[in-house]
Amino acid sequence: MPVDLLDLDAVSAALRDGPSVLWAETPTNPLLRVADLTALAAVAAAAGAPFVVDNTVATGLLQKPLDFGATASVYSLTKSVSGHSDVLGGAVVTRDDALASAVLAWRTDGGAIPGPFESWLVLRGLKTLDLRITRASANALAVATFLAAHPRVTAVHYPGLAPSAAAVKQMPRGFGPLLSFEVSGTAADADAVVGAARLIVPATSFGGVESSWERRARWPAETAPDSLIRMSCGVEPLDDLLADLSAALAIRPSNTSSSRTRWPLPTPPIDGLHDICPASSARNVSRPTRAPRRAAAAAASHPAWPAPITRTSYTTRRLHDRRFT
Ligand SMILES: Cc1ncc(COP(=O)(O)O)c(C=O)c1O
Repeated sequence: MPVDLLDLDAVSAALRDGPSVLWAETPTNPLLRVADLTALAAVAAAAGAPFVVDNTVATGLLQKPLDFGATASVYSLTKSVSGHSDVLGGAVVTRDDALASAVLAWRTDGGAIPGPFESWLVLRGLKTLDLRITRASANALAVATFLAAHPRVTAVHYPGLAPSAAAVKQMPRGFGPLLSFEVSGTAADADAVVGAARLIVPATSFGGVESSWERRARWPAETAPDSLIRMSCGVEPLDDLLADLSAALAIRPSNTSSSRTRWPLPTPPIDGLHDICPASSARNVSRPTRAPRRAAAAAASHPAWPAPITRTSYTTRRLHDRRFT
């Protein structure tokens, strides 16, 4: 039964009916509310229920539920842990040997064994988890602060903006890449903002190196407000993100048919890619001075193809074009 995890009386009352587990998600997706893990662990222990925390949003780098009394924490490895939006996976972390054996047996019987390549992708992502999450968390805090002062934004949800005591205690290293905000106007206004971005990718998943966002209420079962946009900050230069946000927030449904480019971007000429992203081509390294001229020529011959904001952001957009979200 779903209950508000910040309402400990409601949680205790629900546990009186004898559920087999207390399952908590914190920070929550998409409202980023932070529940008090120590308090929830005590309530679960009093009821004799194992306490499981979905730690996907924070990752084990920013929040360690087992240290606050959780029996187990679970992760969608698809998101920040692998970090490149190119693998599906999940993990259960526990110090409880009996539970670990049961999960392993269930996994073996069910056949959900990750392949070697998928496992390698996750392990490769783990090696940069600290770098990525530190940068993405710093970007998210700056973006949340920017949004909180924006005239079109009516609410911002991010644990780092005015951290609760539980957030400070549980997330000492930062508050993660995920935030959400509400824009004034209708769902169509919010859709127009999402569709207007050039750098921030419209996508449902989150936790990748590329910033992404979506209007959550486009999904039928979602209870978030109609104009709520959930954004996952990536590792792009902050100035690029803020520039893209500013431009997207200036868009209204009535002016989306202007010259701004909408998703998906047309594919630029591959020569342009080499010229604008020297690191992607050894060929380019030997002739860097030609890059700006050729890039300008390529852009001019493709008017619908927007000028790159910076090399980094352009590179991430271009790579994203070639991949699923
Ligand atoms: C908090 C949380 N946990 C788990 C999942 C499941 O992720 P996956 O797409 O890997 O099934 C999601 C998906 O959005 C999520 O938001």
